[in-house]
Amino acid sequence: AAWLRYAPLSGAQHFHNSLPSHIVALNSTLGSPVYTAGQELQNGIQSIYGKQCDVHQGHWDAASSLVVGTIDQYKKAYGSLSINPDLTGDGYWLSTEGSTVQILGQNERGALYGAFQYLSMIAQGNFTRVAYASNPDAPIRWTNEWDNLDGSIERGFAGNSIFFANGVVVSNLTRVSEYARILASIGINGVVVNNVNANASLLRPGNIQGLGRIADAMRPYGVQIGVSLFFSSPTSAVQGQANLTTFDPIDESVVSWWANVTDQIYEAVPDMAGYLVKANSEGQPGPLTYNRTLAQGANLFAKALQPHGGVVMFRAFVYNQLNESDWKADRANAAVDFFKPLDGEFDDNVVIQIKYGPIDFQVREPASPLFANIPQSNTAIELQVTQEYLGQQCHLVYLPPLWKTILDFDMRVDNEPSLVRNIVSGQRFKKALGGYAGVVNVGTNETWIGSHLAMSNLYAYGRLAWDPTSDPTSILQDWIRLTFNADPSVINTITQMSLESWPAYENYSGNLGEQTLTDILYTHFGPNPQTQDNTAWGQWTRADHNMIGMDRTVSNGTGNSGQYPPAVATDYENIATTPDNLLLWFHHVNYTTVLKSGVSVIQDFYNQHYAGAATAQTFLSQWQLLQGKIDDERFTDQLYRQSYQAGHALVWRDAIVNFYHNLSGIADKEGRVGNH
Ligand code: GCU
Repeated sequence: AAWLRYAPLSGAQHFHNSLPSHIVALNSTLGSPVYTAGQELQNGIQSIYGKQCDVHQGHWDAASSLVVGTIDQYKKAYGSLSINPDLTGDGYWLSTEGSTVQILGQNERGALYGAFQYLSMIAQGNFTRVAYASNPDAPIRWTNEWDNLDGSIERGFAGNSIFFANGVVVSNLTRVSEYARILASIGINGVVVNNVNANASLLRPGNIQGLGRIADAMRPYGVQIGVSLFFSSPTSAVQGQANLTTFDPIDESVVSWWANVTDQIYEAVPDMAGYLVKANSEGQPGPLTYNRTLAQGANLFAKALQPHGGVVMFRAFVYNQLNESDWKADRANAAVDFFKPLDGEFDDNVVIQIKYGPIDFQVREPASPLFANIPQSNTAIELQVTQEYLGQQCHLVYLPPLWKTILDFDMRVDNEPSLVRNIVSGQRFKKALGGYAGVVNVGTNETWIGSHLAMSNLYAYGRLAWDPTSDPTSILQDWIRLTFNADPSVINTITQMSLESWPAYENYSGNLGEQTLTDILYTHFGPNPQTQDNTAWGQWTRADHNMIGMDRTVSNGTGNSGQYPPAVATDYENIATTPDNLLLWFHHVNYTTVLKSGVSVIQDFYNQHYAGAATAQTFLSQWQLLQGKIDDERFTDQLYRQSYQAGHALVWRDAIVNFYHNLSGIADKEGRVGNH
């Protein structure tokens, strides 16, 4: 049930008079989001407060009722509405001020979101009188699930797929409905159900029917599905579909192949949200295979989807393997190199989906310069809820503070305020589409993503996609109250651990902008700094006996700093104005270079690794304080995780400091590192 536990509140009797006695749901059709909202409100109020409300469909005397529906449904049922809230798509009006509680959506989905918001308030014992409109910041608020048809999940840490097994859609989709419910409660309106590394067999007619069943399971919660496509599907001998000899995106036979498959999907899923496409990336086929542009590739799908109202999320994660002996080669340059020349060539229903940083979900990256370089294109930011490089749910890492460094970053395009969040919302460049894609990778594990505390990241992802200005701490504390309870020591402990967790992980893994330093060849887990260099993957550190860091300057390096607008570029071009935490991202410096903090690069490595690992020890002792304050089951489960993290943080610390001590030969001033 994640945070939708609706646990009974003590002293609940006291609030009975503040609660409605009747619920009026203004749509009687089973499976409509407004119908769902009525049921959810009834169950929530019953479970939290033990008060049984009856649910009436359609018109009913509004006094001492709670009315949930769309603005239009309300006007139809009651003739008029005295207020005129300013709502955009999926927005809602919530008022608890009068004798009637009003929860009115711009559409049915909005009404359901308002119902979940009301339930969130009362589940936290909050009976403040409110009357306000709430609108999402961006229209696209999706998750991506990297599920394979065989039931495995790429970079998933919570068991097998809830969608697929043995090449087909599973028969029991109860858990899919439960997931949709969780997502609706945080305003998520779309789920791409299969891996970006897609398999053409998803397009077999039987699987298209299966997609229809998945969509049916999620629709009552207003969650639409999307699917990832394998670019060369037309030549992949998909059982039940025509088999072509080309997948050239401008070939007529290919165009009609995709139009036909798209029509089939819309027959099974009339409200399909759209496609997600990874092309010409990491060895995958794409338009470049035929010397066509990425825009021609994206528009192939855009045109097939256009009559149905769907969108193409086209990933900017396109890069080639590189030769490290070329000082100017830089994977971080790839996205702008590929996409900037194409700005203006993408159809209106194409959205360029951009990972937050220029490389790949590292513990710290600057914001991707691509956000600033394609003002004529719709964009979305890709975040990762699953902790691929960030401890894989075995380490506590509360991610919103990391995400905020990107969302709140000002690109200064044309010397005007240009926050990344205002670019992806469509506001800055006046685009109609845009938003958020979060890679979640839920599984069959009871915790959904692999650990109880990691669920704060999913909760916060939805809340930030709805309103990226909200405060990570208050989001977290809502989550704690809903997930555990409102005991101040529970709130304070989990808050402190969570807020210290990303800085601690950064400190004992790769600090100073040196990427995460995990093994990058296979697992992306645990320390393995020697895997960064001497590969073609381009996640280099260029560390030798004297120096470390990528020179990304225009004057002497890869020119990456020059991909940012001038005001930002100037900062990153110069060591003096590059923040310490990105120093080694942008500059190749001596280990003895002195940081703004006054210590040398190598000494800072030593100090931060010891400090970060020490903080991880306190997570264990802090968590132990919660024994008896939360249920034993979750206490014990998380205790195990925190013991693991405490130990693994020491492994991290020692692996990294020893590696750079050996390489540099420079002693730790505190005498902690090396042979004693
Ligand atoms: C990372 C990840 C891959 C994934 C890729 C992507 O490199 O490790 O598993 O396929 O990103 O986002 O496409």
